[in-house]
Amino acid sequence: MRNLMVTGGAGFIGSNFVRYMLEKYPGYYIVVYDKLTYAGRLENLQDVAERFAGRYAFVRGDICDAAKVRETIRAYNVDTVINFAAESHVDRSIMNPDAFIKTDVYGTYVLLEAAREFGLERMHQVSTDETYGEVQTGRSKETDPVAPRSPYAASKASADLMVNAYHVTYGLPVTITRGTNNIGPYQYPEKVVPLFVTNAIDDLPLPLYGDGLQVRDYQYVLDHCEAIDIVLHKGEIGGIYNVGTGTEMRNIDMARLILRLLGKPESLIQLVRDRPGHDRRYALDVGKIRALGWEPAHTCEEAIEKTVRWYVENEWWWRPIKSGEHYREYYRRQYEGREIK
Ligand code: NAD
Ligand code: TYD
Repeated sequence: MRNLMVTGGAGFIGSNFVRYMLEKYPGYYIVVYDKLTYAGRLENLQDVAERFAGRYAFVRGDICDAAKVRETIRAYNVDTVINFAAESHVDRSIMNPDAFIKTDVYGTYVLLEAAREFGLERMHQVSTDETYGEVQTGRSKETDPVAPRSPYAASKASADLMVNAYHVTYGLPVTITRGTNNIGPYQYPEKVVPLFVTNAIDDLPLPLYGDGLQVRDYQYVLDHCEAIDIVLHKGEIGGIYNVGTGTEMRNIDMARLILRLLGKPESLIQLVRDRPGHDRRYALDVGKIRALGWEPAHTCEEAIEKTVRWYVENEWWWRPIKSGEHYREYYRRQYEGREIK
């Protein structure tokens, strides 16, 4: 493993992963392959391009474009693909699932075909706890069946099934990680934590869905990146690994913690009409990845604290996004008239 192609590397987790890997492995070369959708931003990799100029390249491309994927693998002598490229926001998948099927399902298939054709050493798929569907009690294990309930989760579960099929059918060396909600630097402010933090900084309402009693496991993005690194180097071929803190937090408590950290009043919490098909709870059993020697370095609370600090200190990054027409239009469509009085 030397020449990595990181698809979706200009997005939130991908850009953190690229920085983490280049810092950790001086012998690695990384080519980021990214379509630069609304969520993919070169600013996320600005420092990487400067610090690692000789070991980093960027190619703008769509993972659905088989010819360009092949051309990039050939040009950079790629031996490993790590696939972060996806449409990643549940609410957008409810508004318009089309791009989710194209990128998350078909795009993953294109990468699998290329990995097979070039005999790559590894194709790693970055997946999500949402593939298990909502879990009322207990914790999802890797051996549990997938039972996705949103178009996003269904597209990610479909990709996982195809990744596994390529392993079983063609012997392709694959691995899959299923992470819980990541938070940290460079997360697009449509996801709940950066949305709430940036709204709170501006004294705007925090739109909390339904009763706010839904449960998520908010993990720090670099803990997740480290887990992917460990699976790449120590994971069993064909294996699936859950990644998360293994603890949980209610959305209302996450919102209150953010407000407390920023010294803002709880009256900023605005209950809004719930998301259709909203999964009440995700919870992972993380024993399998822990057995590889991985431990999360942050609790949910510590992850939120670090994330709040980053957004406070990096307005240069998020202000232009939030004031842009794309974001404002999305926000209107998503939240206007949704308040529960
Ligand atoms: P993101 O939306 O921030 O970034 C996605 C990136 O993929 C962007 O850079 C975008 O430009 C790129 N992209 C989209 N369509 C593409 C295409 N057709 N071809 C090439 N590039 C394309 O997402 P993220 O939060 O960083 O998530 C990364 C991966 O991790 C996704 O696969 C997601 O399903 C998974 N995941 C995310 C979380 C989370 O909490 N954010 C948790 C578990 C798993
Ligand atoms: P999100 O960040 O969209 O991640 P996911 O749905 O993939 O877990 O949402 C996290 C939780 O926060 C989820 O339970 C939905 C809730 N949420 C809100 O209450 N208000 C919001 O404006 C958003 C975007 C999410």
